[in-house]
Amino acid sequence: MSLSGKVAIVTGSGRGLGLAYARELARQGAAVVINDVDADVAAEAVRTIEADGGKAAAVVAPVGSTEVAKQLVQAAVAEYGRLDVLVTNAGILRDKSLLKMTDEDFDAVINVHLRGTFTCVREAFAYFKENGIAGRIITIGSPTGQRGNFGQSNYAAAKAGIVGMVRTWALEMKKAGVTANAVIPVAATAMTKTVPYFQKAVEADERGEAMPAFFRHGLGFGTADDVSGLVAFLASDEAAGITGQAIGAGGDRLQLWTHPEAAATEYREGGWRYEDLVEKFGPLFGGKLQSVGEEFLPLPEELQPEEQPATTAPAKVG
Ligand SMILES: NC(=O)c1ccc[n+]([C@@H]2O[C@H](COP(=O)([O-])OP(=O)(O)OC[C@H]3O[C@@H](n4cnc5c(N)ncnc54)[C@H](O)[C@@H]3O)[C@@H](O)[C@H]2O)c1
Repeated sequence: MSLSGKVAIVTGSGRGLGLAYARELARQGAAVVINDVDADVAAEAVRTIEADGGKAAAVVAPVGSTEVAKQLVQAAVAEYGRLDVLVTNAGILRDKSLLKMTDEDFDAVINVHLRGTFTCVREAFAYFKENGIAGRIITIGSPTGQRGNFGQSNYAAAKAGIVGMVRTWALEMKKAGVTANAVIPVAATAMTKTVPYFQKAVEADERGEAMPAFFRHGLGFGTADDVSGLVAFLASDEAAGITGQAIGAGGDRLQLWTHPEAAATEYREGGWRYEDLVEKFGPLFGGKLQSVGEEFLPLPEELQPEEQPATTAPAKVG
């Protein structure tokens, strides 16, 4: 198996996408450290992987702090003798529009996603460097971090920040042969199941049926298992040359995201004074201003959610 002999940590892997990543890494031969704040789902995840013939151990702790990051790396080494792969997947939402968002809402999301990714990656990279391991860092972004989304200031900041760190880490980790990438997933999980726009897709999945092509193909919205292959691939030796990338996966869709680049460049000797901008900004850049938010196709009649006002776009998407 492609990952046999390797050891992986997946944060927030008691359920949802993290569980799918952990199961796929185990299926490919890796021993996996499961992490979650919920002890019951963490224990169940270990049982599931063991029942599939894999190896897993659980660490129940909230990622965010350096202490928990250290605890995770130490657990991998204590249980399985080494660490090769870190997937920083743990996450929460505290969605509110800007004026309703409290400091606590902001800090909670930043702490789990952004700080949790930073502290765990710092510990894992220190371990990789010290032990000469060409390890793999797989972080998790979001379409919201790439494009923005109504009601998600905290989450957009965290997810865009994660991709920003990945581009920096690709530079800093290159010499050690360690890769750092961001996966941009979309899938039916506890985080997205309640969005009315996706109701018909989620119901089909719960009945054990394939989700309609409109969702799987058109929107790249499918099951957590649709994303897990990409995580296992990035963890493998086959992906040694792939670093600093943001790669989207969901349903039938796989996407390579661009990094921000200047969309237009103009020069003025002596620099751009206020008066120059008043005169020239519109003519030079007015037609080139960048769009924000994700574009969602209008739902066909038969895929409209029931008992909800007709909706053409999801209110919130992870
Ligand atoms: N579902 C999607 O479509 C989607 C889209 C884009 C990004 N994401 C991202 O994917 C990741 C997983 O999302 P999901 O949809 O599976 O969510 P989920 O809510 O189903 O699962 C998240 C898991 O993380 C755990 N968790 C929360 N805080 C934690 C902490 N501090 N330490 C350890 N574990 C913690 C939760 O208990 C839960 O088991 C998140 O980072 C999310 O932002 C999801």
